[in-house]
Formats: sequence, C-alpha cells, structure tokens
Amino acid sequence: MPRTLDPELRRALAARIRYYNEMGIYDFYRQPLSDRKGEDAAPVVVAEQESKVAERAGDPGDEMSPRKSAAVAMPIVEGDIFEVIALQPEQSVSDPLKALKIIREDLGDCTRCVLHKQGRKQIVFGVGDPKAELMFVGEGPGADEDEKGEPFVGRAGQLLNNMIKAMGIEREQVYIANIVKCRPPGNRTPERDECATCSPFLMRQIAVIKPKVIVALGAVAAKTLLAMSASMMQLRGRFYDFRPAGIRSNDPAWDGCKLAVTYHPAFLLRDPRQKGEAWKDLQMVMRELGMKAPSGR
Ligand code: URA
Repeated sequence: MPRTLDPELRRALAARIRYYNEMGIYDFYRQPLSDRKGEDAAPVVVAEQESKVAERAGDPGDEMSPRKSAAVAMPIVEGDIFEVIALQPEQSVSDPLKALKIIREDLGDCTRCVLHKQGRKQIVFGVGDPKAELMFVGEGPGADEDEKGEPFVGRAGQLLNNMIKAMGIEREQVYIANIVKCRPPGNRTPERDECATCSPFLMRQIAVIKPKVIVALGAVAAKTLLAMSASMMQLRGRFYDFRPAGIRSNDPAWDGCKLAVTYHPAFLLRDPRQKGEAWKDLQMVMRELGMKAPSGR
C-alpha cells in the first residue's frame, strides 16, 4: 500500500534533494529492500555521482582512471516524487535562452565557495549563442572578465577571438564559459573544490546548449571536464566522448558531444611557438563539424 508523505517530511526531503542538486547530484535510485537487513528497515534512495563527494573528502584518486563513485542514502516514502523534484529546474523549458536564465537565477549571488569573498566583482556566467554547435571552456575569469562580466575579453580573449576567426566563424556563433565563474584572487589557479562546486552549473549550461563539440582550453578545463589528470601532451590530439556529469538534457536525441583539448590562449601568449599545435587541434575540431577554414590559411 502506498504510504502518504507527511508534509514536513516532504519539505525536508525537497530541501535535502536541492542540497544534493547544488553539489551536482541529480540521479537517485532506490536500494532494493532485499539488500537491507532488519524488518523495520525503511526503503532508501541512493544518490550517486562520480567523483565529487570523494574529491571533496580529499581522495586524490588514481591519476588516469575515473574517480570512485560516491553515494548518499536517505529514506524514501513515496515512489516518484524524486523523479519530479530531482530534475534541474530548466529541464521543462525548451527555449535555451530561457533555460540559461533559469540556471543564472539559480546561481544567484553565489556564495557556495570562498571565491565570493576573495575580491570578485561579479559572476561571469558565459556568453554566446545558446544553440551553439561549438563551445569553448576556459579556466576562470581574470581581471578584465571580472570587470566586464564576460569571459575572455582581455588579452587571452583577443587571441581566442583570433583563433575563432581563423576557423571561419565569429565569436557570437560559439558559446564561451569557464570552469569557475568567479575570479580567483591574483589569477591563481582555481582549487579543486572550487572547480567541483562551480562546475555543476557549467554542466547544466552544456546540457541546455547541447553543443556538438567542446574545446577545453588548458589543463584545468580539460582535467575538470574529463575528471582525469594527465599532461597536456597526453590530453591533446584526440576526441573524448563527453556527457555532462550528473545532468540529463531535456532532449533525448542529445547524447553528449565530442570534447577536444587545446592550449589555453594565455599559455599561447607566453609561448607563441605552440600556436601551430593549437591550430592542429582546431583543425581537428573543424573537420568534426564539417567546417572549412577561410581561404588563405
Ligand atoms: N582566462 C580564462 O580561463 N578565462 C577567461 O575568461 C579569461 C582568461
């Protein structure tokens, strides 16, 4: 017989699930009763997400292999409420612009990690075509981006614009975002927990935009998106199959995308000799997307 849900408990469960959602956990499943000992054992729901909880607990994981799964359990009372309230709020919205706005509103005046109190002026959400086939993901905003509220508007941004132009397209035709949305003080590399806290919002952006290809700019973006640690040499030169961790797109036809890794434009400014290598990466992306470079290249 189905049990009715006490309104207090329902509110508490909804709050708990929102908490998991904010950590990037969206998938919940029921642990079969037969697995549990004792007659009074209440059914439980288990939420699972690769890496995040283990990472937060300080587990460095194995260098090249996906991190261990982490699971959390909680009591379940009604069968399908989890499927309803565990969905990302933008899931029922078909217009990607509106869906991105919902994610931005959800982010609010974010205080989820320490970056909010380390001098950030504003959150740098992302910019570009909400239906872009091609997405670029950098590391985190610098001083110029923090000032303007837009990713890649400083010197590295100028170079990224040139790289996009060399592919025969305009900046407005792609979507550009970062792993962390707040400027790390002194442009330091974002900490792993800051990446883990912020990246669920990026995953939701990706699931809304549904790109065909993501280009990870630099090691921080590559390692966070791929949940693996390796050198740029090892990471570049091939495509990865990418699905946003813990998130479902509202389009069943979108089953993830390809991900390529290239050098961060700021690195290329420091070592311009690597530009040729970066161009090879972009040509690989262009072939995948059926794009032709403008004549003269
Ligand atoms: N570097 C990044 O990684 N992102 C920006 O938005 C600017 C510089």
